[in-house]
Order: sequence, then structure tokens, then C-alpha cells
Amino acid sequence: MERPNHLSVFIRMVNLFLLITSVLAGMVIVLFGIMAYGPEMLIAKPHTTSEVVSKPGWSETISTTDLWQAPDFSTVPTDETGQLIRYGRELVVHTAKYLGPQGKAKPMSNGMNCQNCHLEAGTKLYGNNYSAVASTYPKLRARSGTVESIEKRVNDCFERSLNGQALDVNSHEMKAIVAYIKWLGKNVPPGKVPQGAGLAELDYLNIPANPETGKVLYEKKCASCHGSDGQGLKSPGAAEWTYPPLWGSHSYNIGAGMFRLSRLAGYIKTNMPLGATYLEPQLSNEEAWHIAAYVNSMPRPGMDLSKDWPDITQKPIDHPFGPFADGFSEQQHKYGPFKPILEKRNEIIKTKHPQKP
Ligand code: HEC
Ligand code: HEC
Repeated sequence: MERPNHLSVFIRMVNLFLLITSVLAGMVIVLFGIMAYGPEMLIAKPHTTSEVVSKPGWSETISTTDLWQAPDFSTVPTDETGQLIRYGRELVVHTAKYLGPQGKAKPMSNGMNCQNCHLEAGTKLYGNNYSAVASTYPKLRARSGTVESIEKRVNDCFERSLNGQALDVNSHEMKAIVAYIKWLGKNVPPGKVPQGAGLAELDYLNIPANPETGKVLYEKKCASCHGSDGQGLKSPGAAEWTYPPLWGSHSYNIGAGMFRLSRLAGYIKTNMPLGATYLEPQLSNEEAWHIAAYVNSMPRPGMDLSKDWPDITQKPIDHPFGPFADGFSEQQHKYGPFKPILEKRNEIIKTKHPQKP
């Protein structure tokens, strides 16, 4: 073995020095971390309910303190009321089996299930859940200009989202659906809208949502289930869709909530592609808006909307059918940009209902 020369001794010393300094630097970093964040930074924290989480892709942060929690379904009583609630849940989950084109109770709707849009039987956070229905109805709704009961609101979805007929308000089926929805919201104080209710409200884009950009994204992220033709997928002989249609004759009509771009974009953002949640969305806001624009640019069933929005100043800014009080085009009301419409609308409301001093 050769004797080490001066150079290699020097190199070894430099290596040793570097090793010692990096170990020391590491220790200093950990120490500072502990001083700044406390020893918890070393331990995986259990998920607490009072955390404030930053939603990836959502600009706002939401507090999880008051997040709605659906009541435990196994606590539904076994008495007659309990049976009605159970049947109501069954109707929400498997609507088509009972009320679809070949429904065994009454054929009166397009074959979709309420659950296709009100996910997890209407309990999913930001999945269009029913948490705020019992607490806020009956309420004055500007679309009809009347005070609406839960029954009326349910029938709105039958006539629009399910492109069908209204259900007799005294029918066993209507009573069951309403009983279930009321049971779901039973712990929400009157007038309150809990965190996580209904759909996510996405920030508006500064540009119009673009159906062509949306088409490219749709092909990548949605077509594998809903089809390139948007017609969904149903096994031969099945009553229900494996993947529901997004446009065409079996889909929601032009009077449905989903035909408003903000409703559809909000639904898509926190729920699609299947598996997405409000905590783990899979699309940016912008992608959700563009995809929604593509879906709602495609053909779907019509509806007579002449009696909707008797006061046109109350039309939502993304209601795409005139006449409008604000002078913006149907095109802009359909795809945006929405901020200028919102500003104008607030101005009109202010001059119409001036604030009392
Ligand atoms: C194609 C999708 C779709 C289907 C299917 C659907 N709905 Fe809806 N529903 C919506 C949308 C969108 C809204 C409005 C949400 C909003 O404005 O934030 C809504 C709103 C509601 C509301 C009012 C919620 C609230 O908090 O004010 C009720 C109640 C309701 N639906 C019941 C039903 C029932 C019952 C069925 C089945 C018979 C059904 N829906 C089927 C999309 C759908
Ligand atoms: C892995 C399959 C899958 C993918 C991918 C997927 N979806 Fe869905 N989607 C579903 C299923 C299943 C439902 C119905 C959920 C239920 O009934 O519980 C649904 C429901 C919907 C609905 C409401 C019901 C209707 O037909 O109107 C919309 C809107 C929707 N998806 C849009 C999209 C969009 C947009 C994308 C792409 C960003 C997408 N989906 C990707 C499976 C998928």
C-alpha cells in the first residue's frame, strides 16, 4: 500500500470538515423549527375539526369549524316516519327505478337519479347536498317570484334537472323525499346555511369561459366516463346510468340549475372527475369554468321559461336568456366575463332600492 501523499490527506480533511458542518447545519435547522412551531412539527398531527385549510386552487380559505355533518343514517327510527325517511333516501339514490321512464311507481322523469347531481344521497360536502333545505324553506325565490315550499323546489328539479313532470305533492313518493330531506337537515338551526352546503362558489374569471378550450380538457378528463359524445353509459337493460349523460335528450334541460355556468363549474370543481372532493379538487378554477362552458354549449332539451324571473333585475348574472335589465348580451350572461355584469347589477339594485339613511 502506498503512503498517502499530502494532497490526499488534505482532501480527506476537507471532506471531514464538510461532513461535520452539514450535520451541524441540519441540527440548527431542526432546532429553529422546534422553536418556531413547537415539538408538534416532528409528530404527525391528528386531523382536528377546527383547522383552517387552504383549498388548493380555491383562492379563499375555509374554516372547517362549522362544517356540516350529515346525521348518521343508522339512527333513523324503525317506526312509520323512519320508513318514510328510508324510502325517501331510496328515491333520491335510485330515482330512475321508481320514477324514470320505466319507473315502478310512476314513469315521469328522464332516467337520471337525484343522486347523480346531489352526491352521496345529498350528503357530500360541496357535492350539492341538502343540508340547508330544511333550515331555509319555505323561502321567497326570485325565479318564480313566490314563496316556495320544499315540495315546489323538489318539483323544480323533476321538471328541469330530470326534464320530467311534477310529482303530486300529496303522493307517497313526494312525502318520502321531503321527509328524508328534512331529516338530513334536522340539526341545522332555522335560517342557517352550514359550511359545505350546496355547491362551491368559484371566483369569476376575467375572461369569458371558452367552450373550445373546454372541449380539449373534456376529452382528457371527462370523456372516458361520460363519452366523447356526452351521452353517458348505461348497461343494456339497466334502469340507471353507470355514467350519466351531460347533454342530449336524456340530460337536464335549459331551465335546470346546472345550465347556469357558475352552478356547473362549482359542481365540477369539487366533484369531478369522479373522486374529486373540495379538499382534493383535480381541476383549476379556470379549467372547471372552461369545461362547464363546453358542456353547456352542447344541445339539450328545451323548456318554456317565459314565467321565470318575473322581476328581470333579479335574474342571476349567469342566467343566459334575456331580456336583461343590464344591457349585457346573452352571450356574456352565458360565458362571462361576469364581474362587469355583477357591478352593473349591484348599481341597478342600489338605485331601485336606495338604502334608507
Ligand atoms: C342534473 C342535476 C340535478 C339533478 C338530477 C337533480 N338536481 Fe336538485 N339541484 C340541482 C342544482 C344545480 C340545484 C341548485 C343548486 C344551487 O343553486 O346552488 C339543485 C337544487 C335542489 C334543491 C334545493 C337545494 C337548496 O339548498 O336550496 C332541492 C331540494 C333539490 N335540488 C332536490 C332534488 C331532487 C329531490 C332531485 C331528484 C328528484 C333532484 N334535485 C335532482 C341539480 C340537480
Ligand atoms: C371515472 C368516471 C368519471 C369521470 C372521469 C367523470 N365523471 Fe362525471 N360523473 C361520474 C358519475 C359516476 C356520476 C354520477 C355520480 C353518482 O350518481 O353518484 C357523474 C356525474 C356528473 C355530473 C352530474 C350528472 C349529470 O349527468 O349531469 C356532471 C355534470 C359531471 N359528472 C361532469 C363531469 C365532468 C365535466 C368531468 C370531467 C372533468 C367528469 N364528469 C368526469 C363519473 C365520472
